[in-house]
Amino acid sequence: MAKAEDYGLGPHTFPRGWFIVAEASELPQGRAIPLRFFGKDFALYRGESGRPIMLDAYCPHMQTHLAASDSTAIVQECKQIEGDSIRCPYHGWRFGPDGKCDDIPYFEGTFPRSAVIASYPVEEVMGCIMMWHDPEGGEPQYAPPKLKEWDDPSWVRWELDHLGELEMHPQEILDNMADVHHLGPTHGAPCEYFENEFRDHIYIQRQGGVHAGYNSMLRSSTWYTGPGVLLSKQSFGDVITYELIANTPVDDGVSKVWHAALAQGSSDTPSAEDIEAAKQIQAGALAAFAADFSVWKNKGSATRILQIQTDGPFATGRRWYKQFYDKAENAGTYQEKANGVHHVKNMATPPQEAMDFEGDLFEGIEKR
Ligand code: FES
Ligand SMILES: [Fe+2]
Repeated sequence: MAKAEDYGLGPHTFPRGWFIVAEASELPQGRAIPLRFFGKDFALYRGESGRPIMLDAYCPHMQTHLAASDSTAIVQECKQIEGDSIRCPYHGWRFGPDGKCDDIPYFEGTFPRSAVIASYPVEEVMGCIMMWHDPEGGEPQYAPPKLKEWDDPSWVRWELDHLGELEMHPQEILDNMADVHHLGPTHGAPCEYFENEFRDHIYIQRQGGVHAGYNSMLRSSTWYTGPGVLLSKQSFGDVITYELIANTPVDDGVSKVWHAALAQGSSDTPSAEDIEAAKQIQAGALAAFAADFSVWKNKGSATRILQIQTDGPFATGRRWYKQFYDKAENAGTYQEKANGVHHVKNMATPPQEAMDFEGDLFEGIEKR
């Protein structure tokens, strides 16, 4: 499998941005879970305040994994989490949510300055735990993506589909955004109109066409907020839904993938039927996504694309994606080169109905 370097990304091996690291419901009360992303091990836990906290996995005392020592007494007795702090299972040193050691049970002097573990910005958004990853350790540059429908009780909240690890670099997942001509052969819904737009850290795709199998118009406005989280507003006939597809690098060239869909119920307190209907919509969206997934699982690495004139703007999409692998101070250079609307040769641009359907989707998506 190809790595970041093979695609000419870099200098960083892993990108900067918000990424899903777990589903919120996976976090048990009172204990930590081990995670591996970005070629590193982490411990994720929920403090007693309810706040999710993510630290590097290894204790600075003797390198014990904070979240993978399940047979220890302190874990067995559910005494590892105290307030928003966590104790190491080996000798009980305690670390606060900022990663600083705040108690050593058998020592009362000044703690060594190196008794600290790296701590990462995490937020609970739409049933997901999202982490800000920056190889340079910088603060978040924009808010994690969020649909306002998540807080509208008439929409049925999703549970994530966990698609597991894919031995493919996320670059090729992002290539899908510019890929106008896979929609017919892969999904049975060839495009009638298509365009891409780049706005700094946002990558938008607008497309629509009649789905051959259902003889119904399918429209979508799809966007990445940074390199890890895709959201898509879709209309099929007169039903509007949202879809989530997320990728997080595990190791160089290996991605973890999640999927979900949001559908509206018939009232502010969705009935059992509404919940079942939303599950069916998510299953249908997953079946469509499975077509991409089966291609990805079995394909070779397109470190170069044999681009022809009527393909979508793959090269621009790849240039946009590089901003997350370069120093934060250089990101603006990639953004300036990509920003704007990009059309595809011999392909219609979105009609007014498509823009009306999109509405104010991208208002309020701003930098911090
Ligand atoms: S190894 Fe963590 S407290 Fe000793
Ligand atoms: Fe696709």
